[in-house]
Amino acid sequence: MTEIPTRRLGGLVVSAQGLGCMGMSHGYGASDDDQSIATLRHALDLGVSLLDTADFYGAGHNEELIGRAIAGRRDEVVLATKFGFANRLGEPTAIRGDAPYVREACDASLRRLGVDHIDLYYQHRVDPDVPIEETVGAMAELVAAGKVRHLGLSEAGADTLRRAHAVHPIAALQSEWSLWTRDLEQEIAPVCRELGIGLVPFSPLGRGFLTGRYTSVEGLSESDVRRTQPRFADGNLEQNLAIVAKLDELAAEKGVTAGQLALAWVQHRGDDVVPIPGTRRRKYLEENLAALDVRLSAEELAAIDAAAPADEVAGTRYDAKSMTFVSK
Ligand SMILES: NC(=O)c1ccc[n+]([C@@H]2O[C@H](COP(=O)([O-])OP(=O)(O)OC[C@H]3O[C@@H](n4cnc5c(N)ncnc54)[C@H](OP(=O)(O)O)[C@@H]3O)[C@@H](O)[C@H]2O)c1
Repeated sequence: MTEIPTRRLGGLVVSAQGLGCMGMSHGYGASDDDQSIATLRHALDLGVSLLDTADFYGAGHNEELIGRAIAGRRDEVVLATKFGFANRLGEPTAIRGDAPYVREACDASLRRLGVDHIDLYYQHRVDPDVPIEETVGAMAELVAAGKVRHLGLSEAGADTLRRAHAVHPIAALQSEWSLWTRDLEQEIAPVCRELGIGLVPFSPLGRGFLTGRYTSVEGLSESDVRRTQPRFADGNLEQNLAIVAKLDELAAEKGVTAGQLALAWVQHRGDDVVPIPGTRRRKYLEENLAALDVRLSAEELAAIDAAAPADEVAGTRYDAKSMTFVSK
């Protein structure tokens, strides 16, 4: 693999691929902290700067884990974290974006991470009961106080982005974007481009599904969130596997893995796009980073698009309740 290039997210310079750290503490079953820390340090050794976490992941565990992994190496890291799911305190679906909560959440994240500033601070989900101007106003005060360097939003809609950006420049929008989730392409991505907001696709491997690794939920642990996600449900899963089979064929022709093809496709969306594939393992980290070297021609991109048409993807990306929180 060649040296990892950099890309810009608004005014922030980051490695062209980041590392999603959620699975080390949340969502995908039990994890081994020693293995996760080794993966995090290996990522830094290889030149990955952008590490993505949230206070919500493992109710603070993920931030503490990253704090341990980067101790003594703070300067190598562009640290991104998020606030907004107050259910880290035990309430299942409370989203909070009020100013006192923003301040409190930031101080708690700084403490858990063991750092004096966060490089990119995101609102994890827009609070429908609080004007975005209040939330971003409070986030801007954190910038003024030196606690935060750049601001981001996650799963925000086009109008919210415009209103937020008018209060303080937004460096990045982190939203789901992959071969099987293309919702933001019509309206949201164009607004980001107009305003100079970088795009950080989360779950770029479709929660691992696009790698071809998962053909059933049987082997997943009981706590794995994919067991409750519609695209992994009986009936939908079989239809979605047909898409993966086609991607697998195209990947084989190209001499890469299906996961690398899926990541390369995301990376070809533009120079302002920085995906954050998640993994707990050094082996997958290396495989994913090698996707940065995969060049796709216009014909190859068209063939990939044709293999994964949006209307053939079966099932919504979240359950009905969680769908009400996205693209707001
Ligand atoms: N803003 C938001 O609301 C939001 C929501 C979801 C995620 N995120 C962020 O986005 C990051 C990435 O999303 P994600 O983790 O949900 O999904 P993802 O990156 O699409 O996929 C992660 C899954 O794929 C597996 N995997 C990774 N590389 C692989 C490879 N080369 N071959 C086979 N399997 C591979 C991982 O396994 P192992 O873990 O076993 O290695 C994990 O199960 C998260 O870590 C988090 O930081 C943000």
